[in-house]
Amino acid sequence: MQQGQQRVYAAFIRDLTERRAMEAEVARQRELIHQQEKLSALGALLGGVAHELNNPLSVVIGRAAILQDVLVGTDEERTITKLREAADRCSRIVRTFLAMARDGRPRHGQVDLNDLLVGALEFAGYDLRNANILVNTTVDPEVSAIPGDHDQLVQAFVGLIINARQALERQDGVRTLQVRSQRIGAKVRITITDNGPGMPAEVRARAFEPFFTTRAFGEGGGSGLAIARGIFESHGGAITIDDTVADGCSIVVTLPVGKGEAR
Ligand SMILES: Nc1ncnc2c1ncn2[C@@H]1O[C@H](COP(=O)(O)OP(=O)(O)OP(=O)(O)O)[C@@H](O)[C@H]1O
Ligand SMILES: [Mg+2]
Repeated sequence: MQQGQQRVYAAFIRDLTERRAMEAEVARQRELIHQQEKLSALGALLGGVAHELNNPLSVVIGRAAILQDVLVGTDEERTITKLREAADRCSRIVRTFLAMARDGRPRHGQVDLNDLLVGALEFAGYDLRNANILVNTTVDPEVSAIPGDHDQLVQAFVGLIINARQALERQDGVRTLQVRSQRIGAKVRITITDNGPGMPAEVRARAFEPFFTTRAFGEGGGSGLAIARGIFESHGGAITIDDTVADGCSIVVTLPVGKGEAR
């Protein structure tokens, strides 16, 4: 503007940093929701695929078992045993997947805990191998079937194994995950130990709270340990964090062997 002899300037400066950041955040969340919708559609589809796989797999296992009997003592015995073991492994992975995908209604029966643990590890096997994690499994043959809900227990243990994997991914050097089952009197004790960064005391104090998480948005909802505790306690068992280990994290689960009247 001309004001007498003077020329005056007026300018408006608006800082768009915050608006841009918000727009970026909205776009990121939209992308996340899109990704989650895609995953849940894929999950539903995979559920069907797993069911479909079950039938041919049981044919492979059944026929392999027959052949195994026929080929006892021959040169082919080793080959057929390998085939049978591989088919059993596929079947465990499919079963674990279906157990994870199933609705939450309780179904009680006898659960072969060692088989369940091996199945949960095989289910997570691809991710564990990808993260270069050495898995060390020691199952106690004294641990036979216990009363419980197979699918719920699978869910709880897979959650613990995924936690260990996530912790180890932040760790340099040799990464190990140790899974142990041990019969102690009328109880089974299962320990899941990783040599990751471990839990600081303030995390340990709140780890079982529903929705407590230290993970970034979209990476974890903080429900794994809360759900696991609910499941183990409804089986008459317990879950604790061993705070005596020097490094890493060790989760201790105890479950009753018998008459542990699962509610
Ligand atoms: N093995 C572990 N090592 C170190 N910290 C762990 C381990 N397991 C759990 N935590 C800590 O406990 C918190 C709670 O675990 P929880 O499994 O309940 O939830 P989450 O893993 O964060 O999310 P979600 O299980 O729902 O994906 C984690 O965010 C993590 O900080
Ligand atoms: Mg978790």
